[in-house]
Amino acid sequence: MKPIQVGLLGAGVVGSGTFNVLRRNQEEIKRRAGRGIEITMVADLDTARAQAVAGEGVKVTADARAVIANPDIDIVIELIGGYGIARTLVLEAIAAGKHVVTANKALLAVHGTEIFAAASAKGVIVAFEAAVAGGIPIIKALREGLTANRIQWIAGIINGTTNFILSEMRDKGLDFEVVLKEAQRLGYAEADPTFDIEGVDAAHKATLMCSIAFGIPVQFDKAYVEGITQLGAADIKYAEQLGYRIKLLGITKRTAKGIELRVHPSLVPGKRLIANVEGAMNAVVVQGDAVGTTLYYGKGAGSEPTASAVIADLVDITRLHTADPLNRVPHLAFQPNAMSDLHVLPMSDVVTSYYLRLRVADEAGVLAKVTGILAALGISIDAILQREADEVAGEGATQTDLIILTHDCVESEMNAALKQMQALPTVLAPITRIRKEELA
Ligand code: HSE
Repeated sequence: MKPIQVGLLGAGVVGSGTFNVLRRNQEEIKRRAGRGIEITMVADLDTARAQAVAGEGVKVTADARAVIANPDIDIVIELIGGYGIARTLVLEAIAAGKHVVTANKALLAVHGTEIFAAASAKGVIVAFEAAVAGGIPIIKALREGLTANRIQWIAGIINGTTNFILSEMRDKGLDFEVVLKEAQRLGYAEADPTFDIEGVDAAHKATLMCSIAFGIPVQFDKAYVEGITQLGAADIKYAEQLGYRIKLLGITKRTAKGIELRVHPSLVPGKRLIANVEGAMNAVVVQGDAVGTTLYYGKGAGSEPTASAVIADLVDITRLHTADPLNRVPHLAFQPNAMSDLHVLPMSDVVTSYYLRLRVADEAGVLAKVTGILAALGISIDAILQREADEVAGEGATQTDLIILTHDCVESEMNAALKQMQALPTVLAPITRIRKEELA
């Protein structure tokens, strides 16, 4: 049978990895897919770079629409990124009857409902293994491997840049800004790292996992998103003293009241495997009712790890594209007519436990006032750590860090407690609040 023909939009780092892996492993891939897979056409504004990536014999153009219009192309790989032209081109490819493979988490998290509906109407596949956790086959695991389970929760380190920064902060005792500059110098962080450090990239990925886990539409606008820019080396050190590591987690959880979907720094017990995932690596923990806890670990970015996911999708489509569309694996794991209307909870309704750091005057009664506020709101304390008081130069007065770990409470109650504690004249600086996940 003649090879299935693929058109590539965007010949950057992942495109180049896709060519390399397809060429290197072509015999094995063909034995698995049942026929060859060939990228025969590439679109990139930098045609010289694209030709260098694609090599001889591959048609290169600056016009992405020429790829979509080519009747010989069966599958279009979108590696442009972003919500702009990528959205238009993906919808045009679907309208032209092409299957689409994309690594574009931002596009699917924001416009997934429109894109999956268009693909279903046209009977084509939109595959996106590379969009979440790079080379880790987490979409396949959630959508197929764990299909027997009622998924209870997912927690993942799904942004390598921020995990690298947090690892360096912990290892070297440095503050966020210093490590970010170093990460940019080494090429681990983008020149504009906003999406990574503000948690947006992780929230895009968590949104996709949330939909697949619980069978609800993609709803990035409902995700709570908090990045790592406010974290200090002191919090990482105190967390360590209490037996925890701080990780940026993407969390989605089924509760009696609805679905939680949130990204924020979290204290994780140091003994959990995921707490020991360091550097730019990614890891996802999934809890299912039948299987229990499962862990998926690997490279979440990079040329060939991401290409590994792109090519897995190409092989899936090669095997499945002749199947009746109704008998394929649904885009979001659940049949489109069996999606649930479970709602995503506002952050104020989320129940979790907390790490609090208060810079306080070291005077009689301060601790009593703080704990009194928590007690009045029904918030139970799990542990308290008070550092030795530091002399404030020249004044003879002293101040100290008071660290409090709480048991679970509703976020709205914690917000009320924080407001009252912050208003105390003996609380001398903005209170740091970091959520804590036991992941038991
Ligand atoms: N920038 C992402 C990360 C990889 O640092 O993990 C692509 O989503």
